[in-house]
Amino acid sequence: MRKVSVLIIFSLGFLFACQLTDNKTHRTGLIADHGMVVSAHPEASRIGKMILEEGGNAVDAAVATGFALAVCYPDAGNIGGGGFMVIRFRNGHAAALDYREKAPLRAYEEMFQDSAGNVIPGVSLDSELAVGVPGSVAGLLKALEKYGLFSLQQVIQPAIDLAEKGFPVTLKQAKRLNHYKDAFLRANRDVPAFVKDKPWKAGDTLVQKDLAETLKMIRDHGRDGFYKGPVAKALLARMEQDNGWITQKDLDVYRAIWREPLTAVYKNYKVISMPPPSSGGVALIQLLNMVEPWPVDKWGWNTPQTVHLMVAAEKRVYADRARFLGDPDFVNVPVKQLIDKSYCRERMSGFSPERVVPSDRISHGKLVGFESEETTHYSVVDGDGNAVAVTTTLNRSYGNKVVVNGCGFLLNNEMDDFSSKPGTPNSFGLIGGKANAIEPAKRMLSSMTPTILEKDGQLFMVVGSPGGSTIITSVFQTVLNVTEHHMTMQEAVNAGRFHHQWKPDVIFYEKSALDSLTKDRLKQMGYTLKMRSSIGRVDAVRVLTDGKREGGADPRGDDTAAGF
Ligand code: GLY
Repeated sequence: MRKVSVLIIFSLGFLFACQLTDNKTHRTGLIADHGMVVSAHPEASRIGKMILEEGGNAVDAAVATGFALAVCYPDAGNIGGGGFMVIRFRNGHAAALDYREKAPLRAYEEMFQDSAGNVIPGVSLDSELAVGVPGSVAGLLKALEKYGLFSLQQVIQPAIDLAEKGFPVTLKQAKRLNHYKDAFLRANRDVPAFVKDKPWKAGDTLVQKDLAETLKMIRDHGRDGFYKGPVAKALLARMEQDNGWITQKDLDVYRAIWREPLTAVYKNYKVISMPPPSSGGVALIQLLNMVEPWPVDKWGWNTPQTVHLMVAAEKRVYADRARFLGDPDFVNVPVKQLIDKSYCRERMSGFSPERVVPSDRISHGKLVGFESEETTHYSVVDGDGNAVAVTTTLNRSYGNKVVVNGCGFLLNNEMDDFSSKPGTPNSFGLIGGKANAIEPAKRMLSSMTPTILEKDGQLFMVVGSPGGSTIITSVFQTVLNVTEHHMTMQEAVNAGRFHHQWKPDVIFYEKSALDSLTKDRLKQMGYTLKMRSSIGRVDAVRVLTDGKREGGADPRGDDTAAGF
């Protein structure tokens, strides 16, 4: 008996040692000569890569990956939600597409408050009123129409096949589907495809016939296949059944919008990111501007000095976010001033490497002349060097869990990204003000940060993450991991993360992000630290000096790089 125990302990020790060695030796992600797709699910990455191999460009592959994720990653991949796409063409021209959901025309500022003006818990997340007018189909089709080489039929058919024939769920997916079974049943009278009698196991096939029919309607009728006809009718019937507010007029007037991409220079990198209604691009650029003067590379990765600096910047940036950021079609967002290097430096003027300033003593900046978790990201680079970064969302996992009857797709609960009442935090703990108050047909503020970096005029990195409020800090850390800490793409994605969002005044961290000396020092300085299971899920591509692409797929999920 003792011999057996010793053997088991020895074997386990050996396996553990092998795993450690393995992790140490696998410093780089998948390397490919031509095209690369990194997404949250192996099937979606496979489909994106296939489109590239068939001669599609990065936009074709991104659109195909987006529709595929709606099938194989229903947690966040979607046609019932919205997203942002940032594109950089090989000639350096950049574009940004906003297909964020919008508040229905009937929406109003106090719609989630009771008669006493208190926010009614849960309504902005778990009811039909939580649903923003979906933008994903309008967005994906708009991108394809303008920049794609392939037809809609070519890029959407693989997703239709995936839905019709099914695909094997991963272990992580099986666990999540089992976890949300009761929520799906509570939200739906018809049992959706995500629910089965026996618990899901890894390798079980998920078939989605209804979703396949909806995708066929889109294939055959384009935008009208979703925003008009039987699919729209089913969505509106569901709204009527549950007292939701989206009407045919909301669907008719929804438009995806091309916006001017946000660009900035950080050292010898050019950052191209998403402008409002995302706060992501503004916040990322502010963060980079704020840390730029400090020797982060010399201080080292996640040392007390580095963490202290980054957290000081994060507090100031999230305070600005709460005050100034909202839908630029409704409020004047002072983007230029916020990302101005002198403004960002001035914001950091009270920073001392030794002293912690609590969040309560930090407010938004003073601008001269101014009044006023679940998402998914994928990165694509094609053989010609065109690059696409897409972050798309239903807001929380599987949105509000409502599947449109007979159509198989989930509805978002994005209305929670508005500020239901100034000072009352949303489900990510984010506080907002007037700039992000609910108004009819307004887009709710987002943290999604699809970003592309150039170095010396050449494509360098495509990056983004899900994670609600932690999206911005996850992208920020990944960029610094490569540019300052000289990590490979995969190392930068794997590295432990931390997060501070001004309020609450807490540093959230993953176990592997901070060693005990750093934690002790930060506590001595007065910080409150809380460990979290995971922060962000970054999928990124980096172009190496020899032109090859390195994919960084986040091991926190089933994320997969596929390249050729
Ligand atoms: N729903 C998360 C975000 O857009 O920030």
